[in-house]
Amino acid sequence: MAVKIALIAGARPNFMKIAPLMHALTGDSAWDPILIHTGQHYDHNMSGQFFSDLEIAPPRYHLEVGSGSHAQQTAEIMKRLEPVLLESQPAAILVVGDVNSTVAGALVAAKLGIFVVHVEAGLRSFDRTMPEEINRVVTDSISDLLLITEESGRANLLREGIPAERIHAVGNLMIDSLKKNLTRAMESDVTKRLELPERYGLVTLHRPANVDDAGQLGEILGALEEIGKELPLIWPMHPRTRGRIESNGAVLPAGLRLTDPLGYLDFLCLQAKSAVVLTDSGGIQEETTVLRVPCLTLRDNTERPITIEHGSNRLAGTRKQSILAAWEDALRNPRTAMQPPLWDGQAAQRCKEVLARVLIRS
Ligand code: UD1
Repeated sequence: MAVKIALIAGARPNFMKIAPLMHALTGDSAWDPILIHTGQHYDHNMSGQFFSDLEIAPPRYHLEVGSGSHAQQTAEIMKRLEPVLLESQPAAILVVGDVNSTVAGALVAAKLGIFVVHVEAGLRSFDRTMPEEINRVVTDSISDLLLITEESGRANLLREGIPAERIHAVGNLMIDSLKKNLTRAMESDVTKRLELPERYGLVTLHRPANVDDAGQLGEILGALEEIGKELPLIWPMHPRTRGRIESNGAVLPAGLRLTDPLGYLDFLCLQAKSAVVLTDSGGIQEETTVLRVPCLTLRDNTERPITIEHGSNRLAGTRKQSILAAWEDALRNPRTAMQPPLWDGQAAQRCKEVLARVLIRS
């Protein structure tokens, strides 16, 4: 009998991690993968577009939770997921990343006695003011199998007392999606549609710590204004950021071009062709590393240190002067990026092998 495994996806950065796993498990008679979309992200350009770009079949269950405070959103996912797991009775649940859907899924499953697998385990920013850090720590502490993207994850988990035999290095599922789709993405006409010049920079920003406080947002906008004088900047704006800018009346500098959030293929193309990326995203630090595009991370820490050790990433901080200093440094001292170990497009295959060893004991 095929082993039922429930895969939870809810927010934009989950879809490119779930896609290669769904492709690897679907059509394999040993597995019955059940995709559950929590509905944490629901705008077409934050969710549906990714299903078509990444060729993922529609989810078997859609919980349609939508937005809310952290407690409301997490609780709503838990309330709606429990009956689905009771009905479908999977042997295991697999959660990815560090969003509210991740921790909610892990909590419900752990309390039902369902085996919990966490993909992208062990990453730590050591900054508990980040909601994602809380989600990471809690999820890892109740997971039965912890699949890591980089060795820092193993060290962090061992330090937190997770038994070594539960931890496996599988590589990076997000990079599987990148490698599979890059050729197709490069056929996108997005730079033409957005009327971008040959040389441009790409901006993304959505972390509460950066966009919720008007003073902090002002620091970043001040830096972008200066950089924008030297390099045209395109900014596909996250709905949360747009909402904050509208509500606090922040004035956007000229030289910044805004667009709505883009689909996966368009955004990958835009990243690959950009001269520099300025971001506070987690996944983009990884994608730019593999694309060898310089990345300035507008944060004081990263849970993905390998993107600095091996990759093209550098921490730029969040103050105007620190960002401008990092920008100058990036121009003067360009870095050569190396592909981190196991970020080779085969992570889904490795995940499947580990899952088979643990869940299908012959
Ligand atoms: C979430 C993740 C973050 C991830 C990010 C990627 C958590 C704690 N955070 O943050 O780790 O990097 O997704 O985007 O899970 N909204 C829309 N349409 C949507 C989704 C959201 O308009 O489809 C707006 C709503 O106003 C909502 C706000 O964006 O209140 C924030 O959405 P939410 O899911 O709470 O968190 P993100 O900031 O997207």
